[in-house]
Formats: sequence, structure tokens, C-alpha cells
Amino acid sequence: MKQVFLKWLFATLCLIPAICGAAEPPIIDQKARFHPVISTGGMVVSQERLASSVGADILKQGGNAVDAAVATGFALAVTLPQAGNIGGGGFMLVHLAEEQRTIAIDYREMAPAAATQNMFLDKGGDVDPASSRFSRRAAGVPGTVAGLLHALNAYGTMTPEQVLAPAIALADKGFVVTRPLAYSLRRAEQRLRRDNAASRYFFAPDGNLLQRGTRWRQADLAATLRRIAGKGVEGFYRGKTAELIVAEMQQGGGLITREDLANYRVVERQPVVGEYRGYTVASMPPPSSGGVHLVQMLNVLEGWDLSALGHNSTAYLHRLTETMRRAYADRSKYLGDPDFYPVPVSRLMDREYATRLRQGIDLRRASRSADIAPGLELPEESPQTTHFSAWDRDGNVVSNTYTLNFSYGSGIAVAGAGFLLNNEMDDFSAKPGTPNAYGLLGGEANAIQAGKRPLSSMTPTIVLKNGKPVLATGSPGGSTIITVVLQNILNVIDFHMNVAEATAAPRIHHQWFPDRLNYEAGISPDTLDGLREMGHELAPQPRILGKIQAIASDGNYQYGVTDSRWPGGEAAVAE
Ligand code: DON
Repeated sequence: MKQVFLKWLFATLCLIPAICGAAEPPIIDQKARFHPVISTGGMVVSQERLASSVGADILKQGGNAVDAAVATGFALAVTLPQAGNIGGGGFMLVHLAEEQRTIAIDYREMAPAAATQNMFLDKGGDVDPASSRFSRRAAGVPGTVAGLLHALNAYGTMTPEQVLAPAIALADKGFVVTRPLAYSLRRAEQRLRRDNAASRYFFAPDGNLLQRGTRWRQADLAATLRRIAGKGVEGFYRGKTAELIVAEMQQGGGLITREDLANYRVVERQPVVGEYRGYTVASMPPPSSGGVHLVQMLNVLEGWDLSALGHNSTAYLHRLTETMRRAYADRSKYLGDPDFYPVPVSRLMDREYATRLRQGIDLRRASRSADIAPGLELPEESPQTTHFSAWDRDGNVVSNTYTLNFSYGSGIAVAGAGFLLNNEMDDFSAKPGTPNAYGLLGGEANAIQAGKRPLSSMTPTIVLKNGKPVLATGSPGGSTIITVVLQNILNVIDFHMNVAEATAAPRIHHQWFPDRLNYEAGISPDTLDGLREMGHELAPQPRILGKIQAIASDGNYQYGVTDSRWPGGEAAVAE
């Protein structure tokens, strides 16, 4: 059956002259069980089919990867309301082929000026999660519109009108609700019904749940997107949209003011860069913890021949777990917004430090997280997300992760403006020693301060070989994002999987505390027994670990994959 499929695939591809005429045939691994989508003309992969095709259409019109990514980002704000957004924030990595340069764009939310360190503590001094997650004050100043338009203006070729047109059309004319969207809305029903505006926007006109197969229009969102298309950042951060956001805050408890919106700034940062077995890994620097710990973990793991240990073997998973445990311990202490706290990035990514961590790992026994402390010796005084990737025929690449934090953010929509507010303030450490929604611990480095950006785990990453991009990857998943992206890269580099296999393979996750090794279905029982015997506390992962949206390339072809763990995504090709 597989042989027949492969013959058919070759025959089909050979009908396309661009492919048959190319120097190298597309790499189709006869042993692989999962195959990526293949293109020569560029590709966009996202978690939602319509948004992927919006990006692919932009490529077909002659737009570059940045144009396509920005169009996809705005389209997801319409078609994937649980994570696509204009009321949240995120990070974008852009690789420019001609200049051989990778840029990191930080459009993370910022704490409003009125935010204070103890703003989420109740009278007894305990964290009040309802306030940090489900209130208007849970919202940081949104960064998405500024971030996407900054990318477009600096590195794209098209106008805001051009890249926003498809998103406006999807909001205005509506689109047909898919099964994954209907399911997602059903699961969020209670939360969305608590807010007046959200109960208008995310339900059918008769107030019932939106049903699969029905058309869903979002008129207020279309009007907001039109203001952005016409006036650029001013269309969101000033004027009518800003007024609507401020009015929403005044409905109770919100902190975001007109000045906060006018003061929002995108920051271009140097990506963190590591070398791993001859590949260069470029990823997101703080205020994401993703890139730093990805490189730190790769540095530790490079000291072992992982491929000889075997994929998902006991010996491999033990090393992986112990490495993750140590990286997340460091995360709790040293990571925060670098504009407010001196994050020791180069020391965390130092190879000698990695060697020290590796040497501290007992290859026969699990360590206990209680015995592992953040490891750098520093003087005391120093102090439902979604990913998409775009690749154009010239080799420009975008790897973007953005979020409202939870699915549907705080569940509170801006009345009159048609979009949801993030609850990213919960990513701060509201109180040292009290875990946030993802069980993550933090302290001073990630304490709340006016104007500060909450620490993130989002890890948009581009892997390069000899200066040329070979993989763009990233995932949602809160605290698990970093370990999900790590395993995706290890599967490609150490275990020589194609990007589809690398994405499908079962994953594990450990984050120091809770001291628990989570595993997905598909890891063999005797591997798990082996890990248990070494002293690991194992727990099946209740749902899934991540939803990778990745593109790989061999220079001639792009190979795209949307994670099979979740329906509705697509690798849309531009040819
Ligand atoms: O920035 C972060 O790390 C979190 N706000 C991401 C949240 C997330 O991935 C939820 N999606 N599954």
C-alpha cells in the first residue's frame, strides 16, 4: 500500500515541471511512516486551514515570507479565536536569506503603568488566580498589532491593506465553522458566557453555541481590522479602538489606559544562538525563556551520543529528563524581562556550565527535584497559544508564536471592538513560591512591575546549517513548549527523522516542579518500567504535548507538517 502511494507521489510530482526539472529529487524516505507536504514555491503552516491558505495566497501573489506570515497572523485572529489574536502578544523570528541574518521581534504584552508587584494577592497575601487569569486586570497591553505591522514594515514588501484584506473578508463575510472550532467554543462556553461582549461575539445570533457547518460573521472585529488596515498601528493603539479598550477597562478593574496603549513598543532583539552538532539554532531571547533553555539543554545533551542510545529508549529519556529538570530550575530564578532584570543569558548558555550540569547527572538514578537548585553561582545582589511558520521560494523564513495565554485569554472581549483580551499577567510570578497556571515557579526576576513583560516559554526557532535555514519550528503548550521544540529538533538532528516523523513521535516533559515525568501515549511499557526503576515519578500526559507547525528544507524543497495531535491545521503550498 505504502509502495503504491510512493509511486503515485513520484508520478504526481513529476507532472510538475518545476520539480522534475530541479537538480535534486524531493527526499522521500522509503522507510518513513509519516510524510510532510512538499513544495518548491514556498509554504505556510498553521493550526488553521483557512489562515494557512491566506498565507500561501500571499506568496502566490509575489509576497515574501514576512508578508505571508503577517497575513496569516491576522487571519488566525479571525479563524482561530482561542489563540490567534490581536488582543495578545508574541514573538517572531525572521530569517532574511540575502543578508543571511536572523532577527527576533519581541511583541510580548507589557504590564500597564498601574501594575504593582502584589496586585494579584488577596487580603491574606495569597495569589488570587481569578484575578490574575479571568479579570480585566489580567490583561497586559496587547502587542500583536504593533508586532505584525513592525515586521511588515521592516521586512515585508506589501501594504497593511494588502495583508489585512483576507482577514477582513473572513470576519466580514464570515466563514464556515469547522468541527475543531465548534468543539473548542463548546469547551470554553461557560467562561465566554460570563462576559457580555464575549457572549455576543462567540455564539450564534440566537445565543446558542455556534454549530459546525454554519457561517460565522464577526462585524465588530472586521471594523477593527479595517481601522488597522487604514491607519496602521494608530488604528489600534489610538483613536476608536484604543477608546473601546479603555472603556472596557472601565467596566471594572482594568488597568490599561490610553497612555499605556500609546506607549506600547515592539523591541527587536538579537536572537539567542547556539551550535549543536554542526547546526546553528537561532531562537527567542528573553523575555522568552524558550531560546535560552533550548540552547542550554542542547549544550548538555551534545555531550552524549543520543542516536546510539536509541530514540525514546530508557537511557535517552533519562538523560533528557535530567537535563530538562535542571534547565527549568534555572528558569525559576534567572529568567525575566531583560529590560528590568539582568538575565545571565551567556552564563546559562555557557558550554562549561553545560558540562558541569551534565557531570552532575547520575546515569543510573533519577535525581529528586528537591535536591536540584538553580545552578549558577551568582552574587546575591545580581539579581492556547499558536505557532505558524512561513517559507518563501527565496529562502526567507518566519517562525512565529503568539498567544492570549489561555485559550480565549481571560474570556473577556472588548465590547464594540470584537476581540478578546489576553490574561498574560498570569505569566508573571505573582508571589515567589506560588506556581502560575502552568505550575511554573518564579521569583524576583519575573515579579510584576509597570511596563515589564511577563516571562514566556514561547520558543519560535529557526535551525540553520552553513548559514542556510533547514527547519522552522515552534508550538503552543505553556511550560511544555520548550521541551516540545527541543524534542522536535533532536528528532531531526540526532534521530534523522523527516519533519513529519519528528513531529508525530511521542514526547515527554519534565519541568523541575512538580517533580514528575509526563509522557505521551506511544512510549513502550518496558521503557517506562526502566525509568520507574531508576526512580522517576511517571505520569501519563492527560492531553497532548504541543502542536508543532514546522517547515524543513533541503534547499530545493520545503517540507511542511501540521501536528497530527490536533485537527484543522494545514501546510498550504504556494505553487
Ligand atoms: O508565554 C507563555 O509562555 C504562555 N503564555 C503560553 C501559553 C500557552 O502556550 C497556552 N497554550 N497552549
